[in-house]
Amino acid sequence: MKRILPLLILAGLVCVSALVAVQTVMAQDAITKLAPEAFGKLTRPAAVFVHDKHNEKAKLEDCVVCHHGGKDGVIDRTASTEGTPCSECHKVKPAGKATSLQRAYHKQCIDCHRTKGKGPVACGQCHKR
Ligand code: HEC
Ligand code: HEC
Ligand code: HEC
Ligand code: HEC
Repeated sequence: MKRILPLLILAGLVCVSALVAVQTVMAQDAITKLAPEAFGKLTRPAAVFVHDKHNEKAKLEDCVVCHHGGKDGVIDRTASTEGTPCSECHKVKPAGKATSLQRAYHKQCIDCHRTKGKGPVACGQCHKR
C-alpha cells in the first residue's frame, strides 16, 4: 500500500489537470459563428457556422475532415486535431506559400460546398449581417 499510494495521488493529479485542460477549450456545441481573435477587427460580419447542427445536416461524422493535422508545411489528413484552433497552424500573414488563415477557411468551406453542390458559396450567405 505504501508503494501504491504515491501512484494513486499522481494518477489523481493527472485526471484533474486533464479535466482543466478540456474546460479551457471552447465546447463545439456552443459555436454558432466564427470570429477567430487572430484576425483582430473583422472587415466582414462573422461567418455563420452552427458547428453541431451544420455537421449533422451535412452528415459529417468524421472530425478529421476539417480538423486535420500537419507540420513543417505538410498536411496530415489522418491526424485528428479537434480542440486545436485553425489559427494555431494557419497564420494571418504566413511566410512563404503556406495557406493563410483566411484561405484555410475559404478553401475548406467553399471547396466542399462546391463539390457537394450544397451549402453557401456567395460572400453574403456566410458573412451574414
Ligand atoms: C465542417 C468542418 C468541421 C467538422 C466536420 C468538425 N469541426 Fe469542429 N470546428 C470546425 C471549425 C471551423 C471550428 C472553429 C475552429 C477555430 O476556431 O479555428 C471548430 C471548432 C471545434 C472545437 C472548439 C475548439 C477549437 O478547435 O477551436 C471543438 C472542440 C471541435 N470543433 C470538435 C469537433 C469534433 C469532436 C468533431 C467531430 C465529431 C468536429 N469538431 C467536426 C469545423 C469542423
Ligand atoms: C496542427 C496544425 C494544423 C491545424 C490545427 C489545421 N491545419 Fe490546415 N494545414 C496544416 C498544414 C501543415 C497544411 C499544409 C501546408 C499549408 O498549406 O499551409 C495545411 C493545409 C490546409 C489547407 C490547404 C490544403 C487543402 O486541404 O486544401 C486548408 C484549406 C486548411 N489547411 C484548412 C484548415 C482549417 C479550416 C483548419 C481548422 C478547422 C485547419 N486547417 C487546421 C496544418 C494544420
Ligand atoms: C466536407 C464538407 C463541408 C465542409 C468542409 C463545410 N461544409 Fe458547410 N455545408 C456542407 C453541406 C453538405 C451543406 C448542406 C447541408 C444541407 O442542408 O443538406 C452545408 C451547409 C452550410 C450552411 C447552410 C446552413 C446550414 O447550417 O446547413 C452554412 C452557413 C455552411 N455550410 C457554412 C460552412 C462554413 C462556414 C464552413 C467552414 C468552416 C463549412 N460550411 C464547411 C458541407 C460542408
Ligand atoms: C462558406 C462560407 C464563406 C463564404 C462563401 C465566404 N467566406 Fe469569407 N470567411 C469565412 C470564414 C469561416 C472566415 C473566418 C471567420 C470569420 O472571419 O468570420 C472568413 C473570413 C473572411 C475574411 C477575413 C476576416 C475579416 O472579416 O476581415 C474576409 C475579408 C472574407 N472572409 C471575405 C469574404 C468574401 C469577400 C467572400 C466572397 C467572395 C467570402 N468571404 C465568402 C467563410 C466564408
